[in-house]
Amino acid sequence: MSAQLTAPAAIVLAAGQGTRMRSRIPKVLHPLAGRPMLEHVLDALREAGIERAIVVTGHGADAVEAALEGRATTARQEPQRGTADAVRVALEVAPPDATELIVTMGDVPLQPPELYAALLDALNGGSAAIALTAVRLDDPAGYGRVLRAADGGASAIVEEPDADDATRAVGEVNVGIYAFDAGWLRDAIGRVSPSASGEFYLTDLVGLAVADGRPVEIVVAPDAADAVGINHRVALSVAEERMRRRINERHMRNGVTIVDPSTTRIDAAVEIGQDARIEPGTTLEGATVIAQDAVIGPNAHLRDSRIGPRSHVWASVVEESTVAEDVEIGPFAHLRPGAEIGARCRIGNFAEVKKTRIGAGTQQHHFSYLGDAEIGENVNVGAGSVTANFDGTKKHRTIIEDGASIGVDTMMVAPVTIGEGATTGAGAVVTRDVAPGKTVVGMPARAIEIRRRRSAPAEAGEPRAGQAPVPSGADRNP
Ligand code: UD1
Ligand code: CA
Repeated sequence: MSAQLTAPAAIVLAAGQGTRMRSRIPKVLHPLAGRPMLEHVLDALREAGIERAIVVTGHGADAVEAALEGRATTARQEPQRGTADAVRVALEVAPPDATELIVTMGDVPLQPPELYAALLDALNGGSAAIALTAVRLDDPAGYGRVLRAADGGASAIVEEPDADDATRAVGEVNVGIYAFDAGWLRDAIGRVSPSASGEFYLTDLVGLAVADGRPVEIVVAPDAADAVGINHRVALSVAEERMRRRINERHMRNGVTIVDPSTTRIDAAVEIGQDARIEPGTTLEGATVIAQDAVIGPNAHLRDSRIGPRSHVWASVVEESTVAEDVEIGPFAHLRPGAEIGARCRIGNFAEVKKTRIGAGTQQHHFSYLGDAEIGENVNVGAGSVTANFDGTKKHRTIIEDGASIGVDTMMVAPVTIGEGATTGAGAVVTRDVAPGKTVVGMPARAIEIRRRRSAPAEAGEPRAGQAPVPSGADRNP
């Protein structure tokens, strides 16, 4: 991209109905690689150095304006009287210091930033009034045809209804994306007269420029398939596939291994570190960040989550969660929003975690549920253990301190705290706090004293997670 001494801005046309989408959602808000088409257009403009954009809204204006969240200025066009009328409306709020104006559309999300840069270059510092984008199509039906002058510039764009047979045979069509000398555009826009149908055609500006003795340059779009707008859901799916391929290729060129790109879906905003490996059947959505050397998949589905270095997420679902380094997740684990998994943890088969922080080195190997909990380091959570966090009205917290050992099938009835190094026996129903180092068993779990047989080695009588110590008779009536 050449250095620009100029101050470009952009007008993005998005007032049309998009009838052929057959949708109640405005066309430009249909997502592609996880974000609305319109956002991709704004991203490409920004990458080309064009920060200031005016989006022309009309059909579904409220929804489009809300989705933009202030990212661009908007101008409402009501009624929609054609593309030149849309530009006229945008010019009323366009920054007055803009020396060049790109005009593009909200439904061309595959258009690369290079095209916008090339159009600005083609204006040649304002000697040309217009640079337009053309592409050759085998079937040009429906598009405006570009007629070339002897010098290679454009002499006119003829819309399909106004074209004679010879003009219809022309295969070079107007994509609908332009750069304008802003001063000339402001003057000329009022000179566009209505067509037979009462519409104001932006394409009439080409004839006006020629009449003013100003050149109209043609930039041929590098890829015809990226150039044309999306008008229906078949085109949407084709665009989705092209965009996914482009995203996958970008990551591979950056040093990420994608074992099977055809079954890997990565949203536009996802970040992946060097030497990470994405296994087949994996979907990475939203603002997900994968650190270097992580392995994701096969068959993992991550959304808005962060995975640390060298961690492995295998056949699991991870939503709005954070996983530190050297962690093993899955197969068949579900991290729901607010799970924070510490370093070296093992969260395995049919384990579910929600709004819970888990300290380093903790293991939750088998089917179990931890919700609204705070789990310390090096805790062992036995199979079938469950935080009973919901009393029917409110959610309550469970705290399990460092080094605790939760026996198989322990029910922790929140709010409850299990102290550091404490142990629960198999099937314990813990309704009261357990002091550090204590062992509890039974239903509801009650304190017991461990009797050690003097003849046996010290560890032999020690209860371990998953093994309820045999309660002594003295403990039956605490
Ligand atoms: C337009 C071009 C045509 C080009 C084609 C490429 C004109 C007159 N013709 O035709 O040469 O080949 O695009 O797709 O410009 N829009 C508004 N307000 C309006 C009308 C349209 O914002 O009043 C927006 C639409 O939302 C759309 C874009 O402008 O994003 C193009 O409008 P559309 O009706 O699709 O133009 P075409 O007739 O297809
Ligand atoms: Ca169109």
